[in-house]
Amino acid sequence: MPKQIHLAAHFPGVNNTTVWSDPRSGSHIEFSSFVKLAQTAERAKFDFFFLAEGLRLREQGGQIYDLDVVGRPDTFTVLSALAAVTTHLGLAGTINSTFNEPYEVARQFASLDHLSGGRAAWNVVTSWDAFTGENFRRGGFLAESDRYSRATQFLATASSLFDSWPDDAIVADKENGTFLRDGSVGTFKHADAHFDISGRFNVPRSPQGRPVILQAGDSDAGREFAAATADAIFSRHGTLDEGRAFYADVKRRLAAYGRTREDLLVLPAATFVLGDTDADAAEKAASVRRQQVSGATAIKFLEQLWNRDLSSYDPDGPLPAIDPDVSDTSFSRGRASVRLHRDPLAIARDWRAKAEAGNLSIRELIIEVTGRQTFIGSPATIAAEIDNLVQQDASDGFILVPHVTPDGLDEFADTVVPLLQERGVFRTEYAGATLRDHLGLAR
Ligand SMILES: Cc1cc2nc3c(=O)[nH]c(=O)nc-3n(C[C@H](O)[C@H](O)[C@H](O)COP(=O)(O)O)c2cc1C
Repeated sequence: MPKQIHLAAHFPGVNNTTVWSDPRSGSHIEFSSFVKLAQTAERAKFDFFFLAEGLRLREQGGQIYDLDVVGRPDTFTVLSALAAVTTHLGLAGTINSTFNEPYEVARQFASLDHLSGGRAAWNVVTSWDAFTGENFRRGGFLAESDRYSRATQFLATASSLFDSWPDDAIVADKENGTFLRDGSVGTFKHADAHFDISGRFNVPRSPQGRPVILQAGDSDAGREFAAATADAIFSRHGTLDEGRAFYADVKRRLAAYGRTREDLLVLPAATFVLGDTDADAAEKAASVRRQQVSGATAIKFLEQLWNRDLSSYDPDGPLPAIDPDVSDTSFSRGRASVRLHRDPLAIARDWRAKAEAGNLSIRELIIEVTGRQTFIGSPATIAAEIDNLVQQDASDGFILVPHVTPDGLDEFADTVVPLLQERGVFRTEYAGATLRDHLGLAR
């Protein structure tokens, strides 16, 4: 039996994958956009809809970064509203464990699980930057090294709250006037280095028992956290070799926690460009990359690595001769990708060599070295590629982000999904009612 593929739709967010300036692009705030993407995902029988999180507007050079979409509405509000206009689709929200409190987050997810009839998922991220932390009560709050210890305790605490109501706690016997089976429901007490809380949890057991837990950290600590606690990982390793290495790494970690390979799904982020033929798709992909990386965006990307103002440079000209500023000051704030620039001098050397070898301008280089699309081709090519990656254990499926909101998933739903169904590797109907059912996870 071939492995079954899992698919999710990521509502495009605040980065340059999203081409908001495309004539076909709609609102990123209006409810109708969320409804459109979610209903497309549901008609295509996707496992779930996914929202990322960003809690502070990005800045660069002291200004709001407005080349990408700016701003996004609150996750729980959007997902709760979507619960009312969908019937089977899972609803996944990214909610960090650094700036929130377990009691309130457990209440929110248990409530979403009730409202949606068992379709809630929580992507537990730790976030990392003090810049975002300034928004919150404690300002900056927690060194990066303490974040997974808080995340572990946060999730353990929230789980004990979910579990504090037995399934059969409410009898609501009208004749005898008995509401609860026994009066001890909801009791919790949790004390550790991060939390000292006790009381009664006030949301009854939800349909899934607990929401599906996703995790998106990539560090060693992040992978270990996922192996110990998550039902699925959102990864950035979508190619065959990187995907297989990541997949083997996290699945290997499961045994230490008494878990099996089936207990944790690996779902890389993926983008796609479809065409009638592979050549047509390649042409479209190149033009989408040019939309994603305007001259102004290319300079901003370069500034993120160089960590200095490069606004006087011509995007169609050569790379700066000066080196990146490697001091502690941060020219770009609130942007996760900047954190991946661990050794800016080495990366700058590499980029210079690439630019020289290909005779590339700044813009051409940035198009080349950042974010090429994961899948490019005809529907048949993309269906075969996705199936191959899953069967070869590079992933268990993908979290797809279209570059046009909200209609960018339609073509995939109409052309690739039927081919995956013909191959017998993707459902033609939902078999169960809850997200745990779709993902094949135990309650
Ligand atoms: C593909 C991917 C997407 C992510 N999206 C978000 C996001 O939208 N919001 C967020 O706060 N963290 C997001 N993260 C997670 C953070 O990177 C992570 O919680 C944090 O940086 C620390 O984890 P790490 O050091 O283990 O990578 C994402 C991670 C990955 C791999």
